[in-house]
Amino acid sequence: MEKEMSETLVRTGPGTKMGALMRRYWVPILSSSEIAEPDGPQVRVQIMGEKLIAFRDTEGRPGLVGEFCSHRGVSLFFARNEENGLRCSYHGLKFDRNGKCVDVPSAPQVCDRMSITGYPCVERAGLVWAYMGPPDKMPAPPELEWATLPESHVYISKRLQECNYLQAMEGGIDTAHVSYVHKYEVDNDPMHRGTRALEYIKADGNVIFTIEKQPFGLSMFGRRNGDEDTFYWRVTQWLFPWFTLIPPFGEHVLGGHAWVPIDDHSCWAWSINFHTDKPLSEQERSDLQQGRGIHCEYEPGSFRPKANKDNDYLIDRVAQREKRAYSGIFGFSVQDASLQESMGPIQNHEAERLLPTDKAIVMARRMLYEAANGLEQGIEPPALNATMQHVRAAGVLLDRNADPLAWAREHLADATNQPVYSI
Ligand code: FES
Ligand SMILES: [Fe+2]
Repeated sequence: MEKEMSETLVRTGPGTKMGALMRRYWVPILSSSEIAEPDGPQVRVQIMGEKLIAFRDTEGRPGLVGEFCSHRGVSLFFARNEENGLRCSYHGLKFDRNGKCVDVPSAPQVCDRMSITGYPCVERAGLVWAYMGPPDKMPAPPELEWATLPESHVYISKRLQECNYLQAMEGGIDTAHVSYVHKYEVDNDPMHRGTRALEYIKADGNVIFTIEKQPFGLSMFGRRNGDEDTFYWRVTQWLFPWFTLIPPFGEHVLGGHAWVPIDDHSCWAWSINFHTDKPLSEQERSDLQQGRGIHCEYEPGSFRPKANKDNDYLIDRVAQREKRAYSGIFGFSVQDASLQESMGPIQNHEAERLLPTDKAIVMARRMLYEAANGLEQGIEPPALNATMQHVRAAGVLLDRNADPLAWAREHLADATNQPVYSI
């Protein structure tokens, strides 16, 4: 990829083209539980290079405001969270959840001029989402299937990933890597084991991909041999600008990710599991909490994985040799993170030599690039209509002469009215 395109894609700070594009969509910011209590402790968050403070006000409403007081720049991390706002501890200026200055004790007449940034928030699926774009362009709140389910049906974790969002997200789009780095772990993982899907995946390593451009992003169709007269199709979805949906395994939970830039050198990898029609069982929830499936174990008191670049992700060369872990690293998310972080904080795209299996990545890059440039020229971004997010991933056996694209149009586009297709 050329330098100019790479730079456009990886830079998301204020004033950048990609930053402007991403700010047109609702952004998952943090878990509601991180600001659980009204008037409880506020927390620092950084999103797309912006340093922010999230808090819950007296009436229980989430707020997301600029970190620094408009007076002399003190961090509102040290403010008092009381009576529906943050009061700066230095000279008592107070800001409400919209960033509006509501009190300047020493000079009430200048209150109007002292406001700070404040972004509208909604809460869905136990997450606080914010809209960080132009106020008159705010789209309807997210309607991804997992974001509209009762909290009992969903488990979500976030993990710090120490690289640019693009190379992290590309792992969610690039389904070809599953046959390598995750190969030995799927058999033992409680969210994958015991499914027919695994048998087909193992029996036929030669996946053939068809990619279809969609109004919401991309659908990736991976074809393997099924039974005598069928093919086994796995359909992965990428949704603008940073969501991926994983084809399910048997009766296990469905899954997906959101890849949100913290700054240009790190991102939040949100990992989501859900049942569409029933609560997660206690066993499932406990497995997920322990870091199984697409989740991970953490360094205590943080969202940084316990296996991280400072300890070479706890690589176990014996397990690698004995084929218990393909790369010697355990856990799907850490397996991915280790390889993606090893590229450096921002991959050198000019040096890469892409292969035919990278077709989906190339298309996603191109779509993001065109949308970012288009927006600069006044063209509205794609997929702002939240109903487009009703799409689902699938794993399905189809007749050998069936057209999977036509099948997907019928069964996955408005999937929330459909059964889950998974074997
Ligand atoms: S710096 Fe915040 S009130 Fe003075
Ligand atoms: Fe992966």
